[in-house]
Amino acid sequence: MSNDTAKEKVVIFDTTLRDGEQSPGISLDVGEKLEIAGQLARLGVDYIEAGFPIASQGDFDAVHAIASNVRGPVICGLSRTSYKDIDRCWEAIEPAEKRRIHTFIATSPTHMEHKLKMTPEQVLAEAASAVGRAREYTDDVEFSPEDASRSDFDFMCDVLQAAVDNGAGTLNIPDTVGYATPHEWAERIKLIRERVEGEYIISTHCHNDLGLAVANSLAAVVSGARQVECTINGIGERAGNAAMEEIVMTLRTRPDIYPNLEVGIETEELARSSRLVSRLTGYPVQYNKAVVGRNAFAHESGIHQHGVLNERTTYEIMDPSVVGQDGSKLVLGKHSGRAAFKDALSKMGLDIQGDALNSAFTRFKELADRKVQLSDADLEALVAEELGSSIENSYELVTLDVKGGNANTPKAEVVLESDGVQIKAESEGDGMVDAACTAIKKATGIEGRLTDYTVMSVTGGVDALADVALSFESADGLKVSGRGLSTDVVEASARAFISALNKVVRVRNSGENPQEIDRPGHIG
Ligand code: KIV
Ligand code: ZN
Repeated sequence: MSNDTAKEKVVIFDTTLRDGEQSPGISLDVGEKLEIAGQLARLGVDYIEAGFPIASQGDFDAVHAIASNVRGPVICGLSRTSYKDIDRCWEAIEPAEKRRIHTFIATSPTHMEHKLKMTPEQVLAEAASAVGRAREYTDDVEFSPEDASRSDFDFMCDVLQAAVDNGAGTLNIPDTVGYATPHEWAERIKLIRERVEGEYIISTHCHNDLGLAVANSLAAVVSGARQVECTINGIGERAGNAAMEEIVMTLRTRPDIYPNLEVGIETEELARSSRLVSRLTGYPVQYNKAVVGRNAFAHESGIHQHGVLNERTTYEIMDPSVVGQDGSKLVLGKHSGRAAFKDALSKMGLDIQGDALNSAFTRFKELADRKVQLSDADLEALVAEELGSSIENSYELVTLDVKGGNANTPKAEVVLESDGVQIKAESEGDGMVDAACTAIKKATGIEGRLTDYTVMSVTGGVDALADVALSFESADGLKVSGRGLSTDVVEASARAFISALNKVVRVRNSGENPQEIDRPGHIG
């Protein structure tokens, strides 16, 4: 009898936009979250945990926008156990085609005593009633006993049993603080399966505090977990979550160890998803990151190069093109027209129209004039920059003139346009980037300071595009981020700085306070 018919699916539950967005310093706006959600749908994830709707108006709006616009994956919202949380969660995900409510409460002694200030009996009753409430809205309810790895096993199983009895179809077992080890985690999952009765899927949600998130998730799969919660690039609270690309490629690459299991992921989209998340969050991907790092398929030593030239599999266990590391050999340059540009974008799944397309094309021409060819990665970065900056901008960069070196004090002169009026300002600075940013502050009259600044090259080589991500805190306490792209690092910095200041203006005009992202309780 063939084994092929007996494949079981491992559900990929992506929490990049919820747990991933809880990484220190990451704050994505609605447009950015929509862009990531669209890419997750192309990647073929089964679930998108889009956010924590009760946490802030911004979180609610993002989950609602994703539920309204993204088709394919089930859209999930996170909620604590109070009815107010669950009702708000439902309101946010309601427009989706397929919806899930994920409700959680901590079951470890330390969380119950010091955070919840509840007795175990109260926690059990809360879990049961929360799941019941969520089931009034949808058949698809997930329950998590937070800090499961440090919970008393018997008590946690009682809570899980109550969740199943009240209609939870997925029991997610979180290693909230990344404390578990693979053998222990495998055993715990197996024992839960044996102890808790009923029809449910076991899920695993592992944090990476000891660098074991992926190993623990895979150990759980061996013990019967059929959903894995993970994030692109492994971003998440503290040291992060399990990295989706590593989980997926382990399952695909080692069918001998994980027989008859399948995941519905379009692996060719992994590298692009990684780049997009990195660019929008400002979290760089380490060069040697498994699967999606730029060196994941680079061979340095002569012996290795010789081996790979003769036969790729001598030193490569995966084909780079299978994870999208090769990309298509797209060559777009300064002679390419709008149609070729649009066509290239749509082949990459980037569907932009109208003003966004026009301004992206104008920027493409500017960049192509300075760089002979633009790769897929350059185009993605360019479109990301334009999408981020095409919404109601108050200031646009017209010209930037900088003088640097170590003989004289660096100077910058900028001309910005706002409402059709040109504003000129100049400044000196510690370096050219500092001079340019100070001149921009003068031109806009927005006071504040840079709190974070990262520059990455989009591709390798001396003609690479510089991609600058920065965080800015205005004098009145607004914290925003900005990104900018150019062949010139100072110009990319100026563009990133202007995009951050435009966000300050938008936030002030809309009256929304990004700091009200007051996440209820600590969740991991
Ligand atoms: O780490 C955790 O416990 C969580 C839960 C909300 C599932 O993120
Ligand atoms: Zn978590």
